[in-house]
Order: sequence, then C-alpha cells, then structure tokens
Amino acid sequence: MFALLSALAAGLFATTSFSAPTTSVSAAPSNYSLVADFSGNNFFSGFTAFTGADPTNGNVAYVGMDYAAERSYLGYIDNQVTNSTNAYIGVDYSNVTADRNSVRLSSKQTFSAGTIMTLDVVHAPVAYGTWPAVWMLGGLPGGTWPNTNGGEIDALEWVHETNYNSMTLHTGECTVDNSSSAFQGQLQNTNCNAGSGSTGCSIEALSQDNTNGATLATAGKAFNDQGGAVYAVVWTAQGVSVYIFPRDNQPSDLASGSPDPASWNTVPLAQFSGSGCDFTKALSDMTIVIDTTFCGDWAGKVWTSSGAAAATGVATCAAYVQNNPQAFKDAYFEIASIKMYSSSDTPPGTATTAKRDVSAPADFPTINIGDRHDSDNSTSGMNSTEHRHDHAHHANHHQHHHPNGTHGHTNTSAPCNSTNTATHSPSSTASLPSAADKDTTFGSGSSFGGGYGSGESSSSGGQADPYSNGIGTGTLSGGANTDFEASAWAVAALFALVVAAILW
Ligand SMILES: *[C@@H]1O[C@H](CO)[C@@H](O)[C@H](O)[C@H]1NC(C)=O
Ligand SMILES: *[C@@H]1O[C@H](CO)[C@@H](O)[C@H](O)[C@H]1NC(C)=O
Ligand SMILES: *[C@@H]1O[C@H](CO)[C@@H](O)[C@H](O)[C@H]1NC(C)=O
Repeated sequence: MFALLSALAAGLFATTSFSAPTTSVSAAPSNYSLVADFSGNNFFSGFTAFTGADPTNGNVAYVGMDYAAERSYLGYIDNQVTNSTNAYIGVDYSNVTADRNSVRLSSKQTFSAGTIMTLDVVHAPVAYGTWPAVWMLGGLPGGTWPNTNGGEIDALEWVHETNYNSMTLHTGECTVDNSSSAFQGQLQNTNCNAGSGSTGCSIEALSQDNTNGATLATAGKAFNDQGGAVYAVVWTAQGVSVYIFPRDNQPSDLASGSPDPASWNTVPLAQFSGSGCDFTKALSDMTIVIDTTFCGDWAGKVWTSSGAAAATGVATCAAYVQNNPQAFKDAYFEIASIKMYSSSDTPPGTATTAKRDVSAPADFPTINIGDRHDSDNSTSGMNSTEHRHDHAHHANHHQHHHPNGTHGHTNTSAPCNSTNTATHSPSSTASLPSAADKDTTFGSGSSFGGGYGSGESSSSGGQADPYSNGIGTGTLSGGANTDFEASAWAVAALFALVVAAILW
C-alpha cells in the first residue's frame, strides 16, 4: 500500500541505458515456459470468487461468480481492436447501496519465485471512491500476513483517479536497495515490513513510463485512453521487477510467449532487489488476486487529503460511493490475458487455502461497452464534475504524498474523449461462453493471514484472516480444518438462498 512518507525526488527518469547491478533480476533463468493462461472466454475458469468481508474495510460486498455473472459484473467483451475476447470485471453501477457489489477473484493455482506474470490490461477502474488492484497474495497454511503467509506483491494498484501505479511488496523482515538507475519509479521505503508490513515498500511509477523514447501512462485515465498496456512482473530469487510495454511493441520474446527478461533492454518501472531479502521465502505460494474495493483503509482514509472530497463535493467516501452508482459505470477491468510463465524448477501449485465461491457455474454475459456509453452520454466516466476538478485533485494528491513538492509526477490527465466507445465494438451477436467453473477442488481450509495491506490501517497485525471473517466462517484456525468445507458449503448455500430470495 502506499506509504505516507514524503521523499525528495529529482530527475527520476533514468534516461541512460540500464546498467545491470550484480543483483540484477535480469540475471534470472531465461527458460520460462507458459504454465497458466487466463485469457479468452475461459478466463474465469481459472479463478474463484472471495466472498468474505473486505479485509481492508471497504464499503464493498464481494459477491459470488454466478451472482456477478447474472448482474453483468463479470462477463466477456469481444474487442475488435485487440482482436480478442477479454474478461470484464466490473461493479454494481445501478444501485444506491452502502456496500457496493463488486468481485474479488483469486486464482486456483499458486506460484513461487521463478515466475513471470504478464498482465495485458485494456482498461482499469479509475473513479473517485475506488481502490482497484491486481496483485498476488501468499497462501502458506497457518501463516500470518504478511510475515509468514508468503507476503504480497502488488503489481497494479491505485485509488481514485491517481495517474500513476504504485507497486508494493508486503513482507516480514526484508529490505530492498534503492538504486535510481535500476528502475524508473520512486521507492518510498526500503523496509518491506514497514508499518508492521501494512505500509510495506512501495515504488511509485512516474505517471508515464519512459522507455526508449516512448512514453506510456501507467495508470489513470490516460492509461485507459491509450488502451492500457502489458505489464510484466518478473519474480526470481534475486527480486521482483515490474515492466510495462505497449501492447503492440513488446519485446519479441515476450510477444511470442518465450519471455527472456535478460533480453529486455529497458528499465523497469520498479525493481525490488538486494541482499536484505530472500525473495523465495519472504514471498511464496502466491495466488493472483483481482479486485475493486471502495473507500476502506486507503481510498477512504485519503478521501479528503487527496482532494477527492473537494472534487466530488461529497464529504465522505462512503457517502459518495453509496449515492452515486453511475460514477462506477467505468470502474471496470478489461483484461485481455494474464499469463504465467515459470522456470522449470518452479511449477505452479494448487491453491488449497483460499475460501472459494462454490456456487453453480456461471454463464457469463457478453458486455457491450459501446452500447452502454452510446445510450447515456453522461456515464462515460467523464462526467463534468470529475473533469472540472481533475487538476485540483491531482495537485492536492501529490501534495499529500509529497509535501516537499519535488516529486517527479506530472499531471497527465487526459481530456474527455470517446476512446472507450470507439474501441469497443458492438458484440450483441457473440455467443455466450458457458465457462463451466465448477470448483471441485477447494480448500483444505487452513487459515492464513492476510489481505492486502491494511495500508494506513491502525490495526496492522490485527488484520488477521480475511478468509475467516467473512460470512459465517469465523471459526477457522490454522491447520487442516475439515469443518471449513462444510461451513463454506453452508455459506454458499445460504448465499444461494439469499440470491434466490432476491431474485424471487
Ligand atoms: C531512493 O532514491 C531516490 C533518488 O535518489 C530518492 O528520491 C528516494 O527518496 C529514495 N528512497 C528511499 C526510500 O530512500
Ligand atoms: C484475429 O485473431 C484471429 C485468431 O485469434 C486471427 O485468425 C485473425 O487473423 C485476427 N485478425 C486480425 C485482424 O488480426
Ligand atoms: C440492484 O439491487 C437489486 C435489489 O437488491 C438487485 O435485485 C439488482 O440485481 C441490483 N442490480 C445490480 C445491477 O446490481
């Protein structure tokens, strides 16, 4: 999560070629092979939905997959620009509600050091009140977040309309080196256990990546206006690096599915490395998590200080999220693919500890973004209130993060335009994939710590177990727990009843 530290920054753009330090992550194995491919109309079959209470205390209700599919929070977009069927992961943008419906997906597989994760993200949530993230969470049985559960790697994360990505490790005792030549962003803290782990060590990207003369937005509206980008997270024994590439200008080895990071002649946005951390142990047994929450320990806490209160004219994040459903129409992920590559010695495992949504397989709808926007001009995510206050917001936001005012972020708020409408083709004739996602392998039920960093939560360490503070599963404890399955089924059944009741 983001650190409250201010830091002096000057000239962070690494304009010279990357001279690899001896601990270079790029020295890692180059024999990576594809071990998991979440893409096309099978995307969701690799994931389950977490339906417990938000460990980060957001104004959110995480719903199951079938519920989400029925209400078009989950679906597929046939995108003729990327020429692919992409996963749509959205939220409820219709209802006035205190806890807005959203989805938190967890991969069924786990991954260890020696993994490359590529994220081909076409669109990501950018809206006041939201806190979206694509990240990895350790799942060691009986572990406590972030010290002994296998930690956390945040690949893509921000709040509100922030125009730069924050990449963060949350671990136990672990320090990383600060080398301005090794990465483009700004390291906020060398201690990845800062704030008892809840602050962690973050590297804030510059608002634009600056690679080989090209610039690329890393987050925010400009990210969506450019049609997103391909992120690559390279996690080896030597550290974690995060790269960003234009979709149509990736390294050829990456584009062809044989990634060799040593050949990537570019400076990553972030690199966490150094002898102060065992990146195979501090980080391990990771599931991929994709979620959008609202307010909570980060977005809620900085509501005023970030300028969001002034920009929206609403005093609290909770009130804004509750009463302005239309503001979240564009608060969705569109993901073309997530691909996992592992070096031969680190095959993926099976996630056995995550609480699973075991509801019936969903029929995922086809989402037509273009029609949605055409039918309502005010809901393109660029309503006049947001736009009018955009710059003020960013100014305040930066001031908050960096009181010294010397941080290298630039305001790149893009003007309103119709990119989203234009890039999404009508797709009403597309067939509905019947992605059978029946989960027959779920959990041994070991409790583990977690969630993502409580950020500025005062209850660091008290952020015990997101998988046991959900609906009716409060009795989980470490070790195999056969009651878990029963209770999870009970929860699922209860949930199904509730859903049925609502539908009725
Ligand atoms: C890392 O180095 C940069 C550039 O010298 C500096 O701005 C930043 O504050 C440093 N970060 C830490 C945590 O020391
Ligand atoms: C789109 O992708 C399909 C296969 O996925 C391919 O056959 C077709 O040629 C592609 N079309 C374009 C315009 O790239
Ligand atoms: C809005 O809330 C109603 C009542 O709970 C529910 O039936 C409906 O599915 C919700 N709509 C969406 C899009 O979430």
